[in-house]
Amino acid sequence: PEERKLSGLWRNELDSLMEISAVRDNGDFQGKYLTRVTLAGGCARASPLRGAQQQPGEGGWPTFAFTVRWDKFSNATTAFAGQCFVDTGGKETLTTMWLLREAVGSLEEDWKATRVGRNVFTRKRIRKG
Ligand code: BTN
Repeated sequence: PEERKLSGLWRNELDSLMEISAVRDNGDFQGKYLTRVTLAGGCARASPLRGAQQQPGEGGWPTFAFTVRWDKFSNATTAFAGQCFVDTGGKETLTTMWLLREAVGSLEEDWKATRVGRNVFTRKRIRKG
C-alpha cells in the first residue's frame, strides 16, 4: 500500500541506517541515525534526529526535513531536506540533500565549514523468522 509514511527503518547508499519512530499527527517526528562514515574516520554512535513532515495532501508526495545532532562523537550538525516517493511496485524512496556543518575554531575558517551532498534512502525490510 502507498503509505507515504516516514516511520520505520531506512538505509542509504552509504550504508547509513536511520530509524524514524513516533511521527506525530502534526508531522513532527524523531528517531535515531547511525552513520557508516564520519569526518574523522572514527567510530560513530547512534545520534538523535528530529524533523517535520508535510501533511500528506491529496496526491502529491510529501516533503520533509530533519536535523541530526552527532553530539556523542562530533561537534558537527547535519540538516537533511527531502521528499518521499513510492513507485508503482510499492518501493519507497526518500531522496534528500544535506548540509553538514563542521565546527571550526575561528571565523576565518568559516568558508570551509559546510559540506553539501545527496543521499537516497530505501526502506530496510525487517527479516522475518
Ligand atoms: C561527523 O563525522 O562529524 C558527523 C557524521 C556525518 C555523517 C554524514 S551526514 C551526511 C552523510 N550521510 C550519511 O549518512 N553520513 C554522512
